[in-house]
Amino acid sequence: MAPSETGGPARPTRRQLASARCYDRLMRRADPYWEGPVRRRLLGGLTGRVLDLGAGTGKSLPDLAGAGHVTAVEPAPGRRALLAERARRAPVPVEVADADAERLPYPDASFDAVCCVLMLCSVGDQARALAEIRRVLAPGGTLAFIEHVREEEPGARALLQRAVAPPQRALLGCDLRRRTEEAIGAAGFAFEEIERHRPFGPLVPSQPIITGRASAPR
Ligand SMILES: C[S@@+](CC[C@H](N)C(=O)[O-])C[C@H]1O[C@@H](n2cnc3c(N)ncnc32)[C@H](O)[C@@H]1O
Repeated sequence: MAPSETGGPARPTRRQLASARCYDRLMRRADPYWEGPVRRRLLGGLTGRVLDLGAGTGKSLPDLAGAGHVTAVEPAPGRRALLAERARRAPVPVEVADADAERLPYPDASFDAVCCVLMLCSVGDQARALAEIRRVLAPGGTLAFIEHVREEEPGARALLQRAVAPPQRALLGCDLRRRTEEAIGAAGFAFEEIERHRPFGPLVPSQPIITGRASAPR
């Protein structure tokens, strides 16, 4: 997320909208490589009340067809405007909300499932966001995730990742070095499935990518 996109008035500026459209086009290009089929399979299985956290421009909405109701949270005004357009065409009822993953405005146990796609890399305080996710999930509820994480295997990619992470964080708002799998476990979730993908060329630093599901304690 570009820092300039956060905060500000609820109505997006032209610049925020242009940046959101740019982001949307960029993300679509990832689809043929890996994200489309993985996202479809993982999100397609979510049922009941689903929270799409850091929903961006709504790319996950078509895949959440098994949900009874989706709450799509996105704090960036430009992305939220495109998200609202997509929500109207979604296969299930979608409510779009401006909220912060670190302070979710929902009561305990409000959702049966939460999906985080490339969100836990950008949230300010990851542990706090995961505690909030756990709080708003019903006991035994599902956290579905697709997240790029820190490269732990020594080598050129790990070195490159560490080098480009600070400027990437400053420019795009996402941190390449997060140990998200450990953070999900530390928040009390139990993994039901987890896969580690390295779908891009050896020097692309936004990998490995972990995908899977974990359940909240009962
Ligand atoms: C890389 S984008 C992914 C968007 C979408 N999930 C997708 O797959 O296209 C990360 C999103 O997380 C949102 N985000 C960042 N910090 C957040 C926070 N504290 N609470 C909720 N969303 C946040 C950003 O605004 C951004 O749209």
